[in-house]
Amino acid sequence: MKCSKLKYQSWNCKCRSCGKRFVLFCCALIAGALLLLYLWYQLAKSDKIDISEPRLLLWWTHDNEKVYYRNIYCGYFVCTITNDRQRLAEAKVIFFYGSYINALDMPLPRHAYQLWALLQDETPQNAPYLFYQEFLRHFNYTSTFSRYSDYPLTLRSLHNPKELILRTYFRALRFRSSIPVLFMQDNCATLSGRENYVRELMTHVPVHSCGECLRNADSPIFRRENDVLRFISGFKFVIAFEDAICDDYITAAYWQALIVGAIPIYFGSPTIRDWEPHDHSAIYASDFESPAALAELVYELVDNETAFLEYLQHKFNIEEPITNKRLLKALLWHYNFNLSEKVEHYEKFEREMCTEINSRREKPISKIANQTHFSCPLPQRLPTTRKNYTKQAKQWKVNFTVAQRVVHLLDILLQRNAPYVPTQFREKVKQLLGWDNL
Ligand SMILES: *[C@@H]1O[C@H](CO)[C@@H](O)[C@H](O)[C@H]1NC(C)=O
Ligand SMILES: *[C@@H]1O[C@H](CO)[C@@H](O)[C@H](O)[C@H]1NC(C)=O
Ligand SMILES: *[C@@H]1O[C@H](CO)[C@@H](O)[C@H](O)[C@H]1NC(C)=O
Ligand SMILES: *[C@@H]1O[C@H](CO)[C@@H](O)[C@H](O)[C@H]1NC(C)=O
Ligand SMILES: *[C@@H]1O[C@H](CO)[C@@H](O)[C@H](O)[C@H]1NC(C)=O
Ligand SMILES: *[C@@H]1O[C@H](CO)[C@@H](O)[C@H](O)[C@H]1NC(C)=O
Repeated sequence: MKCSKLKYQSWNCKCRSCGKRFVLFCCALIAGALLLLYLWYQLAKSDKIDISEPRLLLWWTHDNEKVYYRNIYCGYFVCTITNDRQRLAEAKVIFFYGSYINALDMPLPRHAYQLWALLQDETPQNAPYLFYQEFLRHFNYTSTFSRYSDYPLTLRSLHNPKELILRTYFRALRFRSSIPVLFMQDNCATLSGRENYVRELMTHVPVHSCGECLRNADSPIFRRENDVLRFISGFKFVIAFEDAICDDYITAAYWQALIVGAIPIYFGSPTIRDWEPHDHSAIYASDFESPAALAELVYELVDNETAFLEYLQHKFNIEEPITNKRLLKALLWHYNFNLSEKVEHYEKFEREMCTEINSRREKPISKIANQTHFSCPLPQRLPTTRKNYTKQAKQWKVNFTVAQRVVHLLDILLQRNAPYVPTQFREKVKQLLGWDNL
C-alpha cells in the first residue's frame, strides 16, 4: 500500500508538474501569436502611413506659379510636392528659395513638426537676409554653395567635370588672341566690387571686355555653352571674379577658364584653394598688393611659355592631372548627385527631404542650420585698388542695414512664434528704420 501510494503520489506529482508545463506552453504559444499579430498590425499601420498617405512638402516661395501637385518617390516612400498654401498646416517640410524670401510673407506661426528647408543656388547678392545667423538658424536643412550645407552645390557650375582634364577646347598659345586677358560679365554693380578692380587692371594690361560691364568689344553670340568655351579658349587669361565673397561660392568663369586651358585670374571665395585642381592652377588677385602688381605677372607669363604651361598640369600631367583629393572626392559625389542637370538639383533636395521625414524617429535629433551653411563675411572685403570706390559700397551698405533690421525683427517673431500680421510687421520695420517707404 505504501508503495502504491508513493507511486500514486509520484505520478500525481509528475502529472501536476506536467500540467504546469502544459499551461506554460499554452501561454507561450498565445503570447507568441499575439506578438505576431501585433507586429503584423504595426507593419500594416506603418505601411499605411508611408505608402498610401503621402507626406506633403510645400514650396512656400513659389506661390506665384499655378497651383501644382506632383508626387515624388524615394525608395518605397511617396511625398507630394505642392505650392498650394492652403495646405500649409499639413506640410511636413516647407521649402524656401533664398532669393525669393520675403520678410513680409512668412508661413507663421510655425508648427513644431515643420522642417524648414532652404535652397539657394544663385548669387548670394540676391539673398541678403541669409547673410545673418539670426535668420539662418530658423532653417533645419539647406542646399547651398557651402560644403557644410546638407546638400552642397559647391561644384554646380562645373557642368562637365571630365573636360577639366581633356584638351577638347585647348588652343596652342600662338593661336590665341594678342589681347591676353578676357573679362566677360554683365553685372557691374556687384557686392564684391569686382568691376572696380578690373577697371584699374585695364589701365595696366590690355583686357578684352565683351560683357555689359566695362565693355570695350562687341559681344559674341553664344548658342550653347560649347560656344562660350570655344570663344574663351582664344585667350590666355580669364578674369574670374565673383560678384559676392562667400566661402565655397564659385561660379562658372573659374571652371570655364580651367577647362579651356586659360589661366583664371581669380577673386572671390576665400576657400578657393580647397577646390583648385592642383596647387598652381590660378592667379589669385588677393595675393597681390595691387592690380599693377598682378599685371606684371601677366606680362611675365605672356613672355614665358614654360612658366605659362606650368599652370596647366591638369591638361598635361597625364599621370596625375588633378592632385587635389578634396576636389576628386567632391567630383565623385556631385557626379552621383547629378548636378549637371539644371532641374535635377532641387528635385534631388526634395527627394532627400522626403527620405528624411519618412525615416525620422519618433524623437528626432535636432537639426538646425548655421552660418557655416552660408558663409559670407560682412562687410565684404574688396580687393585693394588705388582709388576707393565708395558710391556702390554705400548703396550696398544701406541694403544690408535694412536686411539686418528686418532679420532682427523676424528673429524675435520667430522665437516667440507669435501671430504674424504682415501689415503690422511692415509698420514695425518702418519705425525701426525711421523710413516712410519700404
Ligand atoms: C621662364 O620660366 C621658367 C619657369 O618658371 C624659368 O625657369 C625661366 O628662367 C623663365 N625664363 C625666362 C627667360 O625668364
Ligand atoms: C544621372 O543622370 C544620368 C543621365 O540623365 C543618368 O543616366 C544617371 O542614372 C543619373 N544618376 C543618378 C545617380 O541619378
Ligand atoms: C528646426 O528648426 C527650428 C528652428 O531653429 C527648431 O526650433 C526645431 O527644433 C528644428 N527641428 C528639428 C527637428 O530639428
Ligand atoms: C553648424 O552646423 C554643422 C552641421 O550642419 C555643425 O557640424 C557645426 O558644428 C555647426 N557649427 C556651429 C558653430 O554651430
Ligand atoms: C581706401 O580705404 C582704405 C580703408 O578704408 C584706406 O586705408 C585707404 O587709405 C583708402 N585709399 C584711398 C586711396 O583713399
Ligand atoms: C538695394 O535694394 C534695392 C531694392 O531691393 C535694389 O533695387 C537695389 O538694386 C539694391 N542696391 C544694390 C546696390 O544692390
